[in-house]
Amino acid sequence: MIIGIPKESKNNENRVSLTPDKVEILTKNNHKVLIQQNAGINSGFTDKEYTDAGASISTTAEKVFLKSNLIVKVKEPQIDEYKYLNKNTIIFCYLHLASNLELTTQLISKNVTSIAYETISNPNGKLNLLYPMSEIAGKMAAHNAAQLLTNKYGGPGKLLGGVIGTLKAKVLIIGCGTVGTNAALLANNMGADVTVSDINLNALNKIQELSNGQIKTIYSSPANIKEVIISSDVVIGAVLIPGYKAPKVITLDMIKKMKKNSVIIDVAIDQGGCVEEIKPTTHENPTYLSNGIIHYAVTNIPGIVGNTASISLSNNTFPYVRDIADLGLKKLLRNKSFINSNGVNTHDGFITNKEVALSLNKKYTPINYVLENNF
Ligand SMILES: NC(=O)c1ccc[n+]([C@@H]2O[C@H](COP(=O)([O-])OP(=O)(O)OC[C@H]3O[C@@H](n4cnc5c(N)ncnc54)[C@H](O)[C@@H]3O)[C@@H](O)[C@H]2O)c1
Repeated sequence: MIIGIPKESKNNENRVSLTPDKVEILTKNNHKVLIQQNAGINSGFTDKEYTDAGASISTTAEKVFLKSNLIVKVKEPQIDEYKYLNKNTIIFCYLHLASNLELTTQLISKNVTSIAYETISNPNGKLNLLYPMSEIAGKMAAHNAAQLLTNKYGGPGKLLGGVIGTLKAKVLIIGCGTVGTNAALLANNMGADVTVSDINLNALNKIQELSNGQIKTIYSSPANIKEVIISSDVVIGAVLIPGYKAPKVITLDMIKKMKKNSVIIDVAIDQGGCVEEIKPTTHENPTYLSNGIIHYAVTNIPGIVGNTASISLSNNTFPYVRDIADLGLKKLLRNKSFINSNGVNTHDGFITNKEVALSLNKKYTPINYVLENNF
């Protein structure tokens, strides 16, 4: 199979989807890898390292897209890449279709088989390929909180952990999964006064244990959030209902009661955001002020730690890339454990992921139905 690695084109997206060590395994296994010139340069991997690993270099994205059977990317295809999408190519990357009708329409109208990192789960329900980037985004949310609280970024001029004789900054984190846990533990280690909220009591129990009881917990109900948000300096939104558009757990009504110049970081923005009226931002212009509150909603937070993020992503996606390449599309779609992992979002003009279809108010067609009826 020919595996294509385009250079990422999203704003400040420095990651590359596969590192040279993984490319070497693929080429030694008789697959061809075509990588766009300088695709790895911002994450610390040169073209020479890729050619030494057996890859061929292509000067344009067009050639990579059109000559490959499997495109392995980091972020979803961007508007200027839509023209390359076609029926003969499998796209494997983060897609977040539940909040992206435009891309979904492109994938359907062009009969593309798309497999989304963020909907693939293992038999225990763990989102294997969302996990590594959520770990990074969670830690970075704590870093960002510390920066945005400073006067330099328009914040209230508070040091996250405070010093003797001052209060610690108050951080409320909504959603205690991978992002929430990593953000909470790091913010706590930096000295902040952290409260975490979730509807899953086991998750709250775990964070209490991990922090030796230092992190406070509250059940996530509108009334509880309203009560805590009033005195918070930073609120981090990290909720997820896998596959679906994010629920709006932070409402305008709550935001209007927050202290002026405090900070909201909506990590769930890639699934549409969990903050009412939130708008996506970029690493170039990461924040905007609304109702007197600093809003941060970058959709590719790990994109600016290209080296760490590419290595971690590639370590986790590689077993799937190898399986897709080894099996080929036909066998892959008949492989029960792969289909049960819930990764295929579109195939042959149909939305084959239930949560995506429901979020977009579109028709859901199970992949087995599409295959059996040979559309
Ligand atoms: N912006 C970025 O660059 C970036 C990077 C990585 C992950 N993310 C996003 O961050 C979000 C969280 O990812 P994750 O890996 O931590 O997910 P996760 O599944 O590990 O955790 C989500 C948590 O949200 C909780 N939850 C669901 N509904 C809730 C509610 N109403 N109130 C409180 N908690 C609720 C769940 O119980 C779960 O514990 C996802 O949308 C993910 O795509 C964004």
